[in-house]
Amino acid sequence: MSTTHFGFQQVDERDKARRVRGVFDSVASRYDVMNDLMSMGLHRAWKAFTVMVADIKPGHQVLDIAGGTGDLAMAFARKVGPSGRVVHTDINEAMLRTGRDRLVDAGIVLPTFVCDAEKLPFADASFDRVSVAFGLRNMTHKDLALREMCRVLRPGGKLLVLELSKVAKPLEKAYDWYSFKVLPRMGSLVAGDADSYRYLAESIRMHPDQATLKSMMGEAGFGHVDYHNMTGGVVALHVGIKC
Ligand SMILES: C[S@@+](CC[C@H](N)C(=O)[O-])C[C@H]1O[C@@H](n2cnc3c(N)ncnc32)[C@H](O)[C@@H]1O
Repeated sequence: MSTTHFGFQQVDERDKARRVRGVFDSVASRYDVMNDLMSMGLHRAWKAFTVMVADIKPGHQVLDIAGGTGDLAMAFARKVGPSGRVVHTDINEAMLRTGRDRLVDAGIVLPTFVCDAEKLPFADASFDRVSVAFGLRNMTHKDLALREMCRVLRPGGKLLVLELSKVAKPLEKAYDWYSFKVLPRMGSLVAGDADSYRYLAESIRMHPDQATLKSMMGEAGFGHVDYHNMTGGVVALHVGIKC
């Protein structure tokens, strides 16, 4: 039996996706409000920076992976124009439905697919941009998912990976206190679910740090990779170019 981590627990590799699904089924309806509370609104700035770096042009074909409630998909849709296309995807139907409803309320209708980033149902070289925000951390085989992202990008295309990352040393103590003491309580009060937010804190610690993720992206086939730390490394945006 191959095992992997689910937060700090070792679990059967085949069981991780089901557990991750349980987390997002549980939090889907309160996800956006929790995001604003937990990050004190900062996730909006992190995403705005990602959209700026994505440099989406009219006519671009864009794939948003693990798109959840649709923040990036919505911002991209406003930039691609009528000749472009944004495809909004996630492995979790509850998250995707919440996102689709939000987008429709904003007057935006996008092609929406339930799909696993590790087995993307799209042809090679079919997108100019691929994004994954706060999703890679939850995937069982990150190497496979990164290879799939590279496969569906056209040469010259850009992958944007926005993810919670390794904080700078001076912030570590305060960040640990906030993640392990405050977040689960907030999760319990607002979303009625402390465990999912404990998993969030643990999964961040198990995620590859900035330099490791950069080299993983290189191994997945990206010819040029760079990253930008934000908020002292709480979050990093990795950008990979398929050469
Ligand atoms: C923290 S949410 C991020 C949602 C959105 N991108 C955002 O930035 O607000 C993480 C998302 O990753 C999705 N996810 C986890 N594993 C996945 C996989 N293997 N393939 C696609 N999506 C996945 C979850 O269902 C969840 O919606």
